Amino acid sequence: MRVLCSRKNAWAPPHEPLAFESGLVRVKASMSIWNTAHPWLRDLVSYEPGKPIEDVARELGLEPQQIIKLASNENPLGPSPKALSAMREALERAHFYPDGGGYYLREAIAARAGLKRENVILGCGSNEIIEFIGHAFLNPGDEIITARHAFVVYKLMATLFGARTVEVADPGYTHDLEAMAAAVGPRTREIFVANPNNPTGTMVTQAEIDRFMERVPRDVVVVFDEAYHEFVDNPPDTLKYVREGRNVVVLRTFSKIQGLANLRIGYGLASAELISVLQKTRQPFNANGIAQAGALAGLLDQEHQDRTRELTHEGRGWLQEQFAALGLEYVPSWANFVLVRVGDGKALFSALMRRGIIVRDMNAYGLPEWIRVSVGTMDQNRRFVEELKAFLSAVPAGV
Ligand SMILES: Cc1ncc(COP(=O)(O)O)c(C=O)c1O
Repeated sequence: MRVLCSRKNAWAPPHEPLAFESGLVRVKASMSIWNTAHPWLRDLVSYEPGKPIEDVARELGLEPQQIIKLASNENPLGPSPKALSAMREALERAHFYPDGGGYYLREAIAARAGLKRENVILGCGSNEIIEFIGHAFLNPGDEIITARHAFVVYKLMATLFGARTVEVADPGYTHDLEAMAAAVGPRTREIFVANPNNPTGTMVTQAEIDRFMERVPRDVVVVFDEAYHEFVDNPPDTLKYVREGRNVVVLRTFSKIQGLANLRIGYGLASAELISVLQKTRQPFNANGIAQAGALAGLLDQEHQDRTRELTHEGRGWLQEQFAALGLEYVPSWANFVLVRVGDGKALFSALMRRGIIVRDMNAYGLPEWIRVSVGTMDQNRRFVEELKAFLSAVPAGV
């Protein structure tokens, strides 16, 4: 006799046979929808994003303009004016479906990277491409490797596919690529290297990457997540591995230096064959036309990117000096945010929020004594530091 709806599930209560149907037993599936959902989804903790300005304004009765958001590593200058005008124009065509193949944007990205359009895939944010990679390569019971304090989305996505995340210790909050290569086992399918990493802001060097790539088996997919690449003066070259045809995906985004986080657009660079696999996993219109237009214009606006980089370098240096002067431990950053140890991260997060400043506490990363603050305009950075000082003087034993 065949049993329907009897997915084995550790949490499932005993099934109750409902009726006989020509030799089939139908099982009552009404207890909870969780009995039919993938069991590993129970362990999936939803991503906790930076608190939106609108939420804080509503909760505190403030005007949105009074609030400073330094919680999601966004661009305090906003989008490039050229991107804004391209998006306004694109709005007129909002009734048409977008170019699902993203022809012009992929061409432009490829030209900048010295690659071909076939080496580029667009995503609804680079986060979506992390999901594509999971769709393509992960089965329940497989493993991915990340650093202990790597960007949390890798683990969320692995859990989504029933895969296990091997988190390798990261002394000094920097990826230990030797140890990550040594952690490769028979079930390893993907390794994620965030460079610079979020939330630590640390980087691995070209020499470390090259040694690592010599050791990693060829069938393991290595993902270099370079969301903050443009903030680094001489970043390591990972595209050489794409050109060599290794199983490498380089992720980049328009959410950070381009200031288009709201549009949800990012991209992956890989060999044409690997991209052809990932293309199979995406929805036909995953990158909308307004985002494509804004990203294309922003990509070509070098001046806006240079201004953003300068503002970031100035603000980051200043923030780090302030932390040092206050005797606070911080992790020197290569990106547009700084991880700083303040004592009770959650308490500071709440205190700052009451004053209209949103930062990120680091509980989700197992760092309850730390916060991560994004680099803002100099006015925003000053206001944040004033409030930080006020908090620390009220809680002197905090650190
Ligand atoms: C390391 C890293 N990768 C990827 C992303 C996701 O970027 P996107 O907005 O393109 O999905 C972020 C965003 O914070 C990030 O910090």
